[in-house]
Order: sequence, then C-alpha cells, then structure tokens
Amino acid sequence: MTALAIQREVPLAPLTTLELGGPAKHFIRAEDEQTLVAALRWAAERELRSTILAGGSNVIVPDRGYDGLVIHMKIGGLDFYEGGAVQVGAGVPWEAVVDGAVSRGWAGLECLTGIPGSTGATPIQNVGAYGQEVAEVIEHVRVLHRDTLSFDTWKPEECGFSYRGSRFKRDPDRFVVCAVCFALRPGGPGTVRYAELENALPPGASLTEIRRAVLELRRRKSMVLDPNDPNRRSAGSFFLNPVVPVAVADRIAEQAAREGLVARPADCPRFAAEPGLVKLAAGWLIEKAGIAKGTRRGAVGVSSNHALCLVHHGGGTTAELLAFAEEIQARVEARFGVILEREPQFLA
Ligand code: EPU
Repeated sequence: MTALAIQREVPLAPLTTLELGGPAKHFIRAEDEQTLVAALRWAAERELRSTILAGGSNVIVPDRGYDGLVIHMKIGGLDFYEGGAVQVGAGVPWEAVVDGAVSRGWAGLECLTGIPGSTGATPIQNVGAYGQEVAEVIEHVRVLHRDTLSFDTWKPEECGFSYRGSRFKRDPDRFVVCAVCFALRPGGPGTVRYAELENALPPGASLTEIRRAVLELRRRKSMVLDPNDPNRRSAGSFFLNPVVPVAVADRIAEQAAREGLVARPADCPRFAAEPGLVKLAAGWLIEKAGIAKGTRRGAVGVSSNHALCLVHHGGGTTAELLAFAEEIQARVEARFGVILEREPQFLA
C-alpha cells in the first residue's frame, strides 16, 4: 500500500460552514475504506486522538484546533437500484442523493432538500425537516468499529434513532459511518405533513413541487447555502427544540399569554412528540426571551431570518460564538425555565 498522505497544521475553518476554529495537527483525506482504516491505525499507533470531519455543516471547531488526526471523509459511490434501494458512500454530498431520488420519482427524501453536508452525517443526527427524517427510509448503515477496525451492517433498530439523535451521536468516537443504504418508494406519494409546507402547496403536489417548496421555505430562513446570504455562516439549528412534559408546555403558554407575548395560550408554537410530551420551538423561545432575529455580539449573532441559527459574520472566534450561545441559554432558562441543548457537534 502507498504511504498515507498525512498533512500537518491544516486549517479547518474553511472546511466548516461556520468558518470558525483552528487547525488540525494532522489531517488526511479518506476516499476509500482502506485509507480510513489505515489512517485510524496510524493514529492509534502514535497514541494520537482521531476524529472524522465530513461536510462540516454541523460541527464547531475550537479555536485551538484539534491536536490529533482529522480524517476528512470523502468515501464516494452513489448507486440507484431498481425497486428503490440507494447505496451511498458517506462522503457523497447529501443534495446529490435527494436530487437523484426526486428526479427518478422516488419518494422518501423530497422534504430533505437544501440541507448541507454529506450523506454519512445523516444517520448520526437523524437529519430531519418538514415532516421527514432519514430514519424512516434507512435500510441499513455500514459501520466501522473504531476499536476493532471491523465492519458491520446495522439495521435501523440497531442505530437507536431518536429526534436528532442516534447511537452514533450518543456514543461518539466509537463508530464511523462508511455508507448508508436507503429504501425509497418509486412512484410513491410525497410527504406533506408540516403545516407550513401544506400551506405552500396544492393538494397532490409532485415530488418536484414539494422539493421546490421546501427549498423556497429554507431559503427564506437562510437555510440554503448561498454565498451571497449574510447569514450563510451557520451550523443550521444551533439548539434542539426542547421536548418537555405537556404540563410544562401549558405553563409556558399561559405565561406567554399573561405577559402579552401571544394573544392566546394556543398561539404558542408546539409540535407533537411522544405521548405526554410536547416539542417546543426553540427559535420562538429565544425570540421571546428578548433575543431578536439579527441580534449581534461583535462578529457573531443570530440569523436575521431565524433566531435558532447562530451565525458568524466573519473575523470572529469560536469562543465568542460559544459565549453568545451560553447567554442565549441563560436567558431562555431565566425566562421560561427551559434548558436549551446544543445541536451541532463539538470537535474536541
Ligand atoms: N420560530 C420563531 N422564531 C424564529 C424561528 C422560528 O418564532 O426565529 C417559530 C416559527 O414561527 C415556528 C416554529 O418556531 O412556529 C418552528 O420554526 P421552523 O418551522 O423554522 O422550524 P424549527 O423548529 O426552528 C426545525 C429543525 C430544522 C428544520 C425545520 C423544518 C430542529 C432543531 N430544527 O427547526 O432543522 O429544517 O424544523 O422542519 O429540529 C437543523 O437541525 O439544523 C435544522 C435546520
């Protein structure tokens, strides 16, 4: 085998959508599983930490950088099989998968358009938007165990999917997602489940129409990567939408009505969750805690189009971003007694 092309002191900020953070002490691109395994072994032999960086759209890099080996996931391969199976390498840009599915008339991913990042990341945070989640269409995930360097194929039950979560996310640094196989529905109807999307579409809309409507909604919220958008440097939603007992949601709704934040308690946005629980809208809580869209703290702030997106305006630091995130968490907790949990992963 040829020697591994390990580079040193590689800046990571340009490889992330936030454009923040320091360099990787060691860095390698892995375009195939063989390189990935060799790179992990190389790091282990030197007692160096190692981590995987993929599309960089859901990651926060500390200002000091990463003192181990960063493996840039670039494993390719995108194959569509008769019957609706799609086999995708972890490094394939996600939009290529959505594009291939929608253009073939295969249902299951049409609402997941406009999401930056690569395919391997989608099972990790169980990517979801506008009423769809990848967990609904994942057939299996090809997984590398980092301790034994052996491969496995996991059915969805083994992936432990939850709202924006999975076994991969809950137990970081143990597994690498190398490929994902999706089971889509050729000729099937699209998913129009999200009220905002339903309002924007005629009944019986095609997959192409659904995709176009989702892209339009996302664009309005600065959630489609656009080099001309001043809110473009972000990691999507910075916090999870808190899932709370119904009694807590009711208490907040009554408080909001009492304080004049909404006309009636029923005007507080809330979404169905498991029985007895309600998902609140973190963006709404942030705004109502007094952090308006477009608020800035030096080089960082919240998006002028969506309070749940923290943005970097250029020339800032990760420390500034995290300090602002803490300020938001403290204000929401003080006002509503709800703790917001960070969503993007921290490369530490
Ligand atoms: N809202 C506000 N102010 C804001 C933003 C939102 O009041 O600044 C209210 C909206 O009016 C709405 C509610 O909050 O009633 C929900 O807003 P939105 O439809 O924009 O969705 P979200 O809950 O903020 C979630 C996902 C997004 C996904 C959208 C659409 C999470 C953490 N985020 O956002 O996913 O695109 O739904 O399905 O679940 C991501 O995870 O990075 C992400 C972008």
